[in-house]
Amino acid sequence: MATIGSAQSTVVDQRNRGLHDLRISVTDRCQLRCRYCMPEEVFGKDYVFLPKSQILSFEQITLVARASVNLGVKKIRLTGGEPLMRRDIDQLIAQLYSIEDLDEIALTTNGLLLPKYAKKLKAAGLDRVTVSLDAMDDEIFSEMNGGKAKVSHVLKGIIAAKEAGLYVKINTVLKQGVNDGQVLALAHQARDFGVPLRFIEYMDVGNCNGWEASDVVDTKQVLAQLETIASLEPVNPAHIGEVAKRYRFTDTQTEIGFITSISEPFCGDCNRARLSADGQIYTCLFSSVGYDLKPIIQRQGKTDDELVSFLTAQFSSIWQQRDDRYSEIRFNENVEKQPKVEMSYIGG
Ligand code: GTP
Ligand code: 5AD
Ligand code: SF4
Ligand code: SF4
Repeated sequence: MATIGSAQSTVVDQRNRGLHDLRISVTDRCQLRCRYCMPEEVFGKDYVFLPKSQILSFEQITLVARASVNLGVKKIRLTGGEPLMRRDIDQLIAQLYSIEDLDEIALTTNGLLLPKYAKKLKAAGLDRVTVSLDAMDDEIFSEMNGGKAKVSHVLKGIIAAKEAGLYVKINTVLKQGVNDGQVLALAHQARDFGVPLRFIEYMDVGNCNGWEASDVVDTKQVLAQLETIASLEPVNPAHIGEVAKRYRFTDTQTEIGFITSISEPFCGDCNRARLSADGQIYTCLFSSVGYDLKPIIQRQGKTDDELVSFLTAQFSSIWQQRDDRYSEIRFNENVEKQPKVEMSYIGG
């Protein structure tokens, strides 16, 4: 059994990284049109989303999840698009919850449907939600998120999740000149809620957000602003491959994280695989192509256990070939600029 890269992974990639997390996108649809993810000009009324016939059923997703757990996955994160737009998502959570050896189920959401679903999600076995909130000011929020919701809607979602007993985190994507002036207001809100807040460097995911390096906000400046509220102390990483560098306010203990994929990439420890809603495995957020598991999932006349064992073998071979480290090489001149998978399709 391999021990490098991930404590209990039974498989390692070309860079000796284990497999620990599986991020599962359950739909490529979303009610919002965040400019950094689904800009309205591209994701307009004529945009063709995945047809229902192509989308994995909950039972099929659970087979892939079981295979991933066989290879060492301990945490599953459900993503979208917006995962709460997938009908009866609590039923998928219940199925995943029954997988032995899976430690944690989390979900990343824009929060709008949490008032409706938080209790059901918790009852089904969800442990945590991460809610995206990019501003406290409605106008700036609209500029970031496409004008289809208000800050108060997201806040209601966060409150509902907390009340349901879910562990909550807030994600903020920072864009220079747009919401970088919102850092303090967001931090005050997070402190009031007693919820960790993470600032994410705006990334060049997908092909249509018009990303430029100058849009990325300098983490040191953000830290300096935050220290005007109260002093911050670093927090040690909880596990290998943690995405955020964490700090904590010394007065309230509220945590602040920084996800610095641009300025300080974390590919060296990356132990995450991604499954798209239509059954493709992606070994990097910036991949051009995935590995289609559908031909295996749809094999006729096989028991679930047999399918899981085929999927385990296939997933293992995909992982062993993996050599991705896009964030470490994104600025190299010889990196071919191939089309990348879209964020709304692969879920971040
Ligand atoms: P926890 O640490 O379990 O809370 O989850 P997470 O931070 O991995 O998940 P979340 O969906 O909240 O993602 C936060 C941000 O990190 C998003 O912008 C993701 O796109 C980004 N992110 C997550 N995993 C990776 C990764 O492997 N590579 C890069 N470049 N970004 C990632
Ligand atoms: N850069 C950084 N983070 C992004 N997210 C979506 N698009 C981008 C991007 N271009 C974030 C969302 C959500 C998480 C899954 O990814 O805000 O919190
Ligand atoms: Fe929807 Fe999340 Fe993408 Fe915004 S970042 S458009 S909320 S999927
Ligand atoms: Fe992992 Fe790719 Fe992100 Fe690097 S860029 S941390 S390899 S998903």
